[in-house]
Amino acid sequence: DDYTLSLGENQTLIIVSNRQPYSHQYETGDEGNKKITVDRPAGGLTAGLDPVMQRVSGTWIAWGDGEADRDVTDKDGTVQMPPEENAYTLRRIWLSEDEVEGYYYGYSNRVLWPLCHGGIWKTEFAERYWQRYRQVNETFAKVIDEQTTPTSLVWFQDYHFALAPRLVQESAPESTFLLHFWHIVWPGWDTFRACPQAKTLLDGLLGNDLLGFHIDRYCENFLDCVDKELEDAFVDYDDNRVRYDGHTTRVESFPMGIDAATIERTADSVSPSFWSEFAREHGFDRETQVAIGVDRLDYTKGIVERLDALERLWEMNPEWQGELTYIQKADKSRSRIPEYQNLQQNVETAVERINDRFGTDDWQPVVYIDDWLTDEELRGLYRYGDAMLVSAVRDGMNLVAKEYVAAQVDCDDRDQNPNLGEDCSEQSGNDMESAICGVLVLSDQTGAHEALGEHALTANPYDTEAFAETIEQAVTMDDAERRERMTALREHVASNDIYAWMDDIFEATQ
Ligand code: G6P
Repeated sequence: DDYTLSLGENQTLIIVSNRQPYSHQYETGDEGNKKITVDRPAGGLTAGLDPVMQRVSGTWIAWGDGEADRDVTDKDGTVQMPPEENAYTLRRIWLSEDEVEGYYYGYSNRVLWPLCHGGIWKTEFAERYWQRYRQVNETFAKVIDEQTTPTSLVWFQDYHFALAPRLVQESAPESTFLLHFWHIVWPGWDTFRACPQAKTLLDGLLGNDLLGFHIDRYCENFLDCVDKELEDAFVDYDDNRVRYDGHTTRVESFPMGIDAATIERTADSVSPSFWSEFAREHGFDRETQVAIGVDRLDYTKGIVERLDALERLWEMNPEWQGELTYIQKADKSRSRIPEYQNLQQNVETAVERINDRFGTDDWQPVVYIDDWLTDEELRGLYRYGDAMLVSAVRDGMNLVAKEYVAAQVDCDDRDQNPNLGEDCSEQSGNDMESAICGVLVLSDQTGAHEALGEHALTANPYDTEAFAETIEQAVTMDDAERRERMTALREHVASNDIYAWMDDIFEATQ
């Protein structure tokens, strides 16, 4: 498909994000001859946008970090050593330690992140965070200015850049189009109004021509915040527009998808012995039912709540001891922030407690994996996991839920596994390496639940009893129902993928 078609003629794309799509590292222990390797993230926002940029090309502006990054970057910030066949230019911006502390660890992740996820009590409105956030937004705006032409489409990503759009709008040519996608929740006004910088943040975002959120509710919340905070703004609720300071901003929802075809392909091609090898390596019994969870270690993901529900299940229904294993893949995140250190501690304590309480010589209830997994391992884990538990207490979208669905290749209409009967709980240990069709358990606090909730099993992460029952319902679900639900989910995820998302967004800019 030629995705340049959805951009206007001669239009060039500039993507702006905090995280870079790839980074450079010196290979460990090899500093003597300075061998440089390229790292790409396996998931998340930047991994999702990379295929977009590969198709439309253009420039990607992001924060560069570390010695190897610097050594392969020109004075003007242009990266000289992209991965092979990279179709776009990466332009790195360097930040001082003070800026990283105030803008990234401070205002972005100790103010905006908790605030938007409804955790006012976790926010820390320090003035120095705000000063650095402003400063870094100004730095980015300056570099964007150098790159923009009258035909540029500047696409800001996420909550790190609430102020840059206004700054760019003031200096860029009239015809430059400013687009912003806010990847996290936009909270209700009653939460947002706690922020001392509420008005300035809204003013910054209203420098955009188009502002996108995952779901309608976040758009409504945003419009309501504008209406209540900015006296001079006119909010047109019927048309989802704000007129403010002589400028119109459209506010629309675009639920983000994933690169379903690629994930499907990777899941489909994992080696036939993958699951038995993976089980041996991580010390679990694949003959049991296996539920999985894959998360960044973040307090919004409801990991402790999920472990509580599992503990309740093993406690109330001891017949599941030795019959159900839970695998938690966790990625360390923002570990400099005390809230994140506490969370990691709480998760590890819960895992130990549960394993001490129920574990036996030949069965470990919870397998905790915090090592890096390759793409193949991650997709294989998705494919063979009999159920995926997504229990975020608040989440803008949750792409992991969609990735799991895309990797459920064994649910497609191929010959049904003859070894599988009605009750999957007794069948999952068959010798064939074909997986049973998985079940998605999905928190109703995620953006993904809007579209997937009908065919997933719904959980409220705070309702431990009911959540435990839902997990049991998932792992005892018969094959016909699994297939019916997963087929519907797969259709949705495949037809609303990252390319469809990008097309919708670009179309809205024309
Ligand atoms: C969320 C945010 C992204 C962010 C990602 C990882 O998904 O919406 O903007 O990149 O978390 O967090 P990090 O702070 O490591 O970039």
